[in-house]
Amino acid sequence: MDYPVFSVLPRHLAIIMDGNGRWAKQRGLPRSEGHKKGSEVFRKIGEYAGNIGIRHLTFYAFSTENWNRPENEVNALMNLFDSFLGEAIERLDENLEKGIRLRFLGDKNGVPAELRALMDYVEEQTKDCDKTFLNIAINYGGQQEITQAVQRIAQNVKDNNLKLEEITPELISSYLYTAEQPDPDLIIRPSGELRLSNFLTFQSAYSEFWFSDVLWPDFTEETLNEALADFEKRNRRFGGI
Ligand code: IPE
Ligand code: IPE
Ligand code: MG
Repeated sequence: MDYPVFSVLPRHLAIIMDGNGRWAKQRGLPRSEGHKKGSEVFRKIGEYAGNIGIRHLTFYAFSTENWNRPENEVNALMNLFDSFLGEAIERLDENLEKGIRLRFLGDKNGVPAELRALMDYVEEQTKDCDKTFLNIAINYGGQQEITQAVQRIAQNVKDNNLKLEEITPELISSYLYTAEQPDPDLIIRPSGELRLSNFLTFQSAYSEFWFSDVLWPDFTEETLNEALADFEKRNRRFGGI
């Protein structure tokens, strides 16, 4: 495949993978089929984005609010996640060779113990990779992320390990799940919804946004190219002129 060349690429691209349920409904299929297709698209787009040279990638897969869904749907999503982890472990050598570091953003304590063990294993095994940083947000909520950061910071102040005046935006950043990674330059949300739904609340302060009516299972490399072509033309001022 010939890869397009962009004059600027986001250093960090984040995607809210939304619209699986509606995609399935349009076809008279159970919602779980939408999630299955969505997980295939995630693999395809993740690989493509890495190949065109985007270094930091974050995919929103399951929010802290998604537990409110019916049990069978939550189970279907956890099963897909389990398959993904199994595959990541099976292909560990390949991933290590490609230099892909996998990280899971979110509250791991809320994830079933069997999955948590696999998540910890994959993170540990890939921790020295530094070519592509692939984050998957699972049981992730921006408000929960900020809350746990505040609790840990407060504890450090209480224990006299940190002074009040040492609390800066950079320090707070270092307590987030994305510690040491740049903030997202571009956040993509398909499916026609115009909101963040608790995604990267702190990190999105200066992100560019790209919305599309395409449902996630229909999202293709061309859809991503369109978003990147748009991003290329944005004038990012960061408060300057
Ligand atoms: C995104 O698709 C997947 C998750 C939130 C886990 P949805 O399941 O939200 O799909 P819609 O929004 O109902 O179409
Ligand atoms: C956001 O989508 C979460 C993920 C895509 C993982 P939702 O479908 O849960 O968001 P809302 O409920 O429409 O805001
Ligand atoms: Mg949705």
